[in-house]
Amino acid sequence: MIQSFNKINKLSGSLSLSGDKSISHRALLISSLSDGKSKIKNLSDSDDVRSTIICLQALGIEIESMKNETIVIGRGFRGYQKPLKPLYAGNSGTTARLLAGILAAQNFESTILGDESLSSRPMKRMIEPLTQMNAKIESRDGNLPLRIFPTDNLISIKYAMPVASAQVKSAILLAGLHSDATTTVIESTPARNHTENLLNLEVSKENQKIVSKVSKNNYPEPKEYFVPNDLSSAMFFIVLTLLSHNSELTINNISLNPTRTECLNILKRMGGKIQIEEKGISNSEIFGDIIVQSSHLKNIEISSELIPLIIDEIPILSVAGIFAKGVFELRDASELRLKESDRIKAICANLLKLGLDVEEFDDGFKVSGSINKQSEPFNSYGDHRIAMAFGILSSLLKDGGEVEGLESVSVSNPDFLKQLNSIAVKF
Ligand code: S3P
Repeated sequence: MIQSFNKINKLSGSLSLSGDKSISHRALLISSLSDGKSKIKNLSDSDDVRSTIICLQALGIEIESMKNETIVIGRGFRGYQKPLKPLYAGNSGTTARLLAGILAAQNFESTILGDESLSSRPMKRMIEPLTQMNAKIESRDGNLPLRIFPTDNLISIKYAMPVASAQVKSAILLAGLHSDATTTVIESTPARNHTENLLNLEVSKENQKIVSKVSKNNYPEPKEYFVPNDLSSAMFFIVLTLLSHNSELTINNISLNPTRTECLNILKRMGGKIQIEEKGISNSEIFGDIIVQSSHLKNIEISSELIPLIIDEIPILSVAGIFAKGVFELRDASELRLKESDRIKAICANLLKLGLDVEEFDDGFKVSGSINKQSEPFNSYGDHRIAMAFGILSSLLKDGGEVEGLESVSVSNPDFLKQLNSIAVKF
């Protein structure tokens, strides 16, 4: 589907988005482990989170979604039922990797499949530590499908993360819940910490490294979760507001977890007028309102240790970068090539369509020059964040623009277009 975007001249009003995708996956998975009824308020309405729900239901977990509340009846320690067919994780890396950590500890065989994009994403990085824990996992050359065989005795490990990845870290921590002894994960570069928060794990800082510990003692009890709204989805509207004239937008109850807010810090350092009002904390997850106003942005240096903390926001930060003063340059971000699409290639190919000077590197890109042509539609490459970033970019162009494959937005935010229209001021 090719979607046209008209130029948006001004934005105003407020937005309430759906629950954070990363926290939603974890609230569902952790509730499914506990023995009894948990309540999750404000779960994400994304296709990715629906993939987690469908996989859990196939494992015998009862999940009932009501208006703004989801009830999960967990089956307790090693209580999942053997699924009748392969589990389908769709486009969702978080579903596949985190679920693999839990399935590695079950007493039945299971298979995880995914769509074409997910089937080309690396699983070895997660299979390796789980294998050290005694898990038995077969893959197709390090990719999906995964066949996970029963194990009676997962053992604990001490694992230094070779690549910053919250999904791999979470797979190890969720598997580690099934062993009496303590599993330790050591990160030199921090990645998002929602699994640690929702399991209330012991996390400390030792010699500049982050050390998280887990054992059967941390096995979850049923409880209530409140999922704050999704900052990664909010970022598209935040950048659009910053780059539009005479505009102001309030976004409510957004997740302000410090392992996620580096994208806001970067925009502030670029000159963005962004005010943050903390409102509360639930299961160690901070949330609050964000108020954004039109600003003049300038490009800044983004240091390499920040990359894992902004990895999902790079497509939209690149849009901010091409409208900001100076040259936008990103390095040390080769992980971007392993996301829902090769995001370095996708961003560079789309920016070239505008006549910008684009230099592509293995681990990033550099963009300078000015927009001097605009003919073909942008390509989403079937990737929700590329689709939304170039939808926003189209809304900033004097003649608007088009995005091919916009339907992929439902992977994280099915209401993206509706929300965009609701804050655009019509003259
Ligand atoms: C996620 C972790 C990140 C991120 C993904 C969601 C999570 O992936 O890109 O969209 O919920 O744990 P990696 O852990 O592979 O970096």
